[in-house]
Amino acid sequence: MDLSAFPRVALGSWPTPLEDAPRLAAALGSPPVLIKRDDVNGLGAGGNKLRKLEFLLGRAIEDGADTIITFGALQTNHGRQTAAACAKLGLKCELVLTAKVPMAGDAYERSGNVVLDHMFGATVHVCADADETAAAYERINHDKAVTLPVGGSNGLGALGYVAAAVELVGQLDERGIDDATIVVPDGSGATAAGVALGTELLGWPGKVHAASVSHTAQDAEQELHALATEAAALLGEPAPKLAHVTVTDDTIGPGYGVPTPEMWDVLKLFAETEGVVLDPVYTGKAAVKFREIAPRGDVPVVFLHTGGLPGFYGYAPEAVARFR
Ligand SMILES: Cc1ncc(COP(=O)(O)O)c(C=O)c1O
Repeated sequence: MDLSAFPRVALGSWPTPLEDAPRLAAALGSPPVLIKRDDVNGLGAGGNKLRKLEFLLGRAIEDGADTIITFGALQTNHGRQTAAACAKLGLKCELVLTAKVPMAGDAYERSGNVVLDHMFGATVHVCADADETAAAYERINHDKAVTLPVGGSNGLGALGYVAAAVELVGQLDERGIDDATIVVPDGSGATAAGVALGTELLGWPGKVHAASVSHTAQDAEQELHALATEAAALLGEPAPKLAHVTVTDDTIGPGYGVPTPEMWDVLKLFAETEGVVLDPVYTGKAAVKFREIAPRGDVPVVFLHTGGLPGFYGYAPEAVARFR
């Protein structure tokens, strides 16, 4: 698997730490737990999008882009990391954000990721629905603009998580761990797809569990396979089988971005056992699935922490009411 042929910009600090979480494992009564800290990779408050953006922006710059346009919900972490990367690279950033989560109030609408988007110099277009989003996009798109999909999720973006799989399997190897289950949040899909493809191409014997935070398990699984197949084609590889991958959706609750009591409980659990902060939208809901499956297995479990801390502050009133 040769990733060196793809244009790439340096955004994060790699490798990210792989940390033991013995107090969390003890609280769960599970085999050893490890946390892969992709939340502490540097630029713009960090998170999983930096790995994708290294490939996506590498290609955009090679294509002569001076502007990057991308999409998301109001509290998109992808948008915030794209804005930070554009600031670092001297690119103009246009964020077209759609109000698709039933949350309101100053914290959600202005704080968290949104205030950071502005600080990083992005132009933020807040749209009420799909029609407004399409109109805003038409207005700002131009010849030297490159458009990135929601979440940076396409085959090229997924290569960032193929690279992450190589890094993680190497770290597990160094610890003498040759079999494990990796639990990963699944939103737009390329993170889980990259991990799934990378581990399969390595012939790694472990399992990957993708916990959807937005789509039905069936849709998320279809998307994961499509993205992994697209990424495999870029690498000159056939469509992967992904027999080691499971996708679930039963920790979403009422909907994407809508907090659940279990999510708050698990945020507290990670915080008070390991001092690790999860976010309410992605890692929190995936960790509810992690808490369920970790004690059931007999191999180590790796929780892939994909970041999202700024998003936590978008939910500050709810968090304060719960934890004060
Ligand atoms: C913190 C965090 N975790 C996980 C994800 C999900 O990653 P993906 O969209 O690649 O499925 C996202 C996506 O926005 C995210 O911001």
